[in-house]
Amino acid sequence: MATKKQTPKTTAAAAPGWKYEPALESTDHVRFEKRYGHFIDGKFTAAKSYFGAINPATEEQLAEFGQGSAAEVDTAVKSARRGYEKYWSKLPPSERAKYLYRIARLLQEHARELAILETMNGGKPIKESRDVDLPLAAAHFFYYAGWADKLQYAFGGAQVAPLGVAGQVIPWNFPLLMAAWKIAPALACGNTVVLKAAETTPLTAMKLAEIFQEADLPPGVVNFVNGDGRTGAALVNHPDINKVAFTGSTEVGRAIQKQLAGTGKRLTLELGGKGANIIFDDAALDQAIEGIITGIFFNQGHVCCAGSRLLVQESIHDEVVRRLTHRLSTLRVGNPLDKNTDVGAINSRAQLDKIEAYLGYGVEDGAVRHAAPCPLPGRGFFVAPTFFTGVAPAHRIAADEIFGPVLSVMTFRTPEEAVAKANATPYGLSAGIWTDKGSKLFAVASQLKAGVIWGNSFNRFDATSPFGGFKESGFGREGGRQGLLPYLEVRG
Ligand code: NAI
Ligand code: MG
Repeated sequence: MATKKQTPKTTAAAAPGWKYEPALESTDHVRFEKRYGHFIDGKFTAAKSYFGAINPATEEQLAEFGQGSAAEVDTAVKSARRGYEKYWSKLPPSERAKYLYRIARLLQEHARELAILETMNGGKPIKESRDVDLPLAAAHFFYYAGWADKLQYAFGGAQVAPLGVAGQVIPWNFPLLMAAWKIAPALACGNTVVLKAAETTPLTAMKLAEIFQEADLPPGVVNFVNGDGRTGAALVNHPDINKVAFTGSTEVGRAIQKQLAGTGKRLTLELGGKGANIIFDDAALDQAIEGIITGIFFNQGHVCCAGSRLLVQESIHDEVVRRLTHRLSTLRVGNPLDKNTDVGAINSRAQLDKIEAYLGYGVEDGAVRHAAPCPLPGRGFFVAPTFFTGVAPAHRIAADEIFGPVLSVMTFRTPEEAVAKANATPYGLSAGIWTDKGSKLFAVASQLKAGVIWGNSFNRFDATSPFGGFKESGFGREGGRQGLLPYLEVRG
């Protein structure tokens, strides 16, 4: 890759003051198999061929997983159909609710082990898997358990019915949480599931399967097939699937939508984003700086709703950059299992290569690179949290989803210009607005074409709140009452 030579600005020396001793989370008590095939009909089953999944912080293999063939996908779909006809559709809704509550409670009980495994397989800091992924995954099962026997009141008294078998494909950035987002509403509405986890992060789905066994969930109600995109394609194209739910790249989402056209299968897509985080000159700046940091560095920036475009009112640009530079110097990057780590490992070699390419494009296109002055571990996939100043909207770093800890800083003068710049993207998933004035916040929010808009906060999630996109960020909502709709047929 040809890049212009530029030494990143790391003006702030390493953070003054605090010195952190290592505070490693112990992994002694975690337990997992060396090899998993699939989880079909309530049992772990063998696969014909396997691939390895690693810990991205050490590059060591954790376990092997089945590379699901079309025949194995077919077995899983048949199991889900049987589970639907024999058990799940026959259960009174209040009984379905009991299973969902039980799963939620078991997720809480096993939270510590699951958080550690999520961090080992995905690379995210333990404080995030412990405080965000796990509590939210349990919250989704609790929340949808509550809906299971109240579905007839969800849509103005309309009669509702389940769809049948849902085929679900999820990405690697929030493996367990995305599984919960997809499975909980599907089951609450009376559907059964075949889910494929991402090929780099299948481990916690296998532990979730153990929880389903412990909860005594009837066989076939949830099935997991492991494998890469080929397995995903076999699942979404299987003729006996009634509904497809996909979260991942816009490229694959677009292909799935084409493949499903005319099949009668229901589809929801949750795709990429390039969220604008808008800072007005009357914002509480210290809080806004924290919001910028959370917005782009949470989960290494592997977040579809990340605030990856910072729009700062021109009059405060220099002050924001000064404070951001200082805050960047205090970020702790490294071992994801260390409780002090703020930014963990990039999920895969491929994703690290993509991020590094964009760091090069930023410089090539003429922006100024500011990298955190932190030391990086010698092994594993790590990159210094970075922001760019002097970014123009046409720069590749401002236009494309990077899905990494890379922020593009741009300016605006008036609220109208902020809105125009925020909306100038093919995506429309998220946005943030920072201002001291409630009236300004609501006036600006009403003009933004984004599915989720945070006011004086960023990257906050709640099971009761719908999440989803506009434009190329996809369609359909997950979470909240709206999250029931993709899994129900609403009859008049
Ligand atoms: P991807 O879209 O290829 O993978 C997501 C999931 O889809 C995985 O489970 C994968 O196995 C599956 N998949 C791949 N091809 C498929 C197909 N033809 N049919 C059915 N399923 C298929 O995303 P990838 O390659 O991991 O990441 C590339 C970029 O996509 C990232 O750099 C990021 O920009 C974006 N992305 C966005 C996500 C989001 O949450 N919106 C999540 C993951 C990636
Ligand atoms: Mg891909």
